[in-house]
Amino acid sequence: MKEKLEKIKNEILGNLAKVKTLDDWQNLEVKYLGRKGIFTEILRSLTSLSIEERKTIGKLANDIKLELQEKFKNTAEILEGKKSFGFVDPTLPGIKLPKGHIHPMTIVQNELEDLFISMGFMVLDGPEMESDYYNFEALNIPKYHPARDMQDTFYIDKKNEDGELDLVMRTQTSSMQVRAMQKYGAPMRCVIPGRCFRSEATDVRHEHTFYQLEGVMVGEDISLANMKSVLETVAKHLYGPETQVRLRPKFYPFVEPGANGEVTCFICGGKGCRLCKDTGWLEIFGSGMIHPNVLKAGGIDSKKYTGFAFGFGLTRLVMLKYGIGDIRLLQSDDLRFLEQF
Ligand code: DAH
Repeated sequence: MKEKLEKIKNEILGNLAKVKTLDDWQNLEVKYLGRKGIFTEILRSLTSLSIEERKTIGKLANDIKLELQEKFKNTAEILEGKKSFGFVDPTLPGIKLPKGHIHPMTIVQNELEDLFISMGFMVLDGPEMESDYYNFEALNIPKYHPARDMQDTFYIDKKNEDGELDLVMRTQTSSMQVRAMQKYGAPMRCVIPGRCFRSEATDVRHEHTFYQLEGVMVGEDISLANMKSVLETVAKHLYGPETQVRLRPKFYPFVEPGANGEVTCFICGGKGCRLCKDTGWLEIFGSGMIHPNVLKAGGIDSKKYTGFAFGFGLTRLVMLKYGIGDIRLLQSDDLRFLEQF
């Protein structure tokens, strides 16, 4: 009997040492120490022994049971992570930590910032909640001017002394033009990437929050030719050396003349396809020679200096670059989307 007990004890300990999961542990515990377990059965069978034998064997069996219970408890704690094995196995595979991704807006913004820095531009930041003055008035868009209807504005619900709403969520990064001129004067070149807001009903192509990248260059003898050259450099950088740029007249209150900037479609190379709606051209920026009134608001002598300004739809560039069909994905926190970049 003694040998039998020792043998089963060693068998149990051998099996316990191989246990890797809590499930295995539980199965083993039921199998050996449970109410119907093998070890419990053996203990029960002791009743058939003589009283003398029962005394010695019974004590041994009980000791073994206590020892086994202790060992089982120990193993469970290790499996539950409450105790360590006391050594580190450096050959075990490590735990893969999930890696973050750079947002596609940030990728394109960084790329453009680097390009403009290489051309001598500063990169500036500006307030997203802006005064009516910098967002409109300083840009030659007086109150009640119909040009304000070009943009649907979020007004901040706070009136000034004249009872007017004079804070807005900036509708365009152009709001930084006059701030930059006031701070740095002329000559000066800068770009301002950032978030803009418009009161839009959202759908696949419209979003209340989007990104623009504004550019300003002021100096003596700055001409439309300088502007076209800078914008061509940007277009070729974005879409390859064959890309062409065309400027088509468009009214913007803060520039004169103003122009819409289009590039040859990078999918069809100008032949016409679905992306460019068969026109061969993609519209990606607004631009123009800065209006004297705007230079004046910036404290710059418009007789001595001229300048140009442009505004890229940064969100649009990103959607074109990656073939993103729904603008709302960019503001979503959908990891299935974000993990693709
Ligand atoms: N701010 C304009 C818009 O949001 C874009 C723009 C047009 C910016 C012409 C400019 C410019 O700097 O010269 O539609």
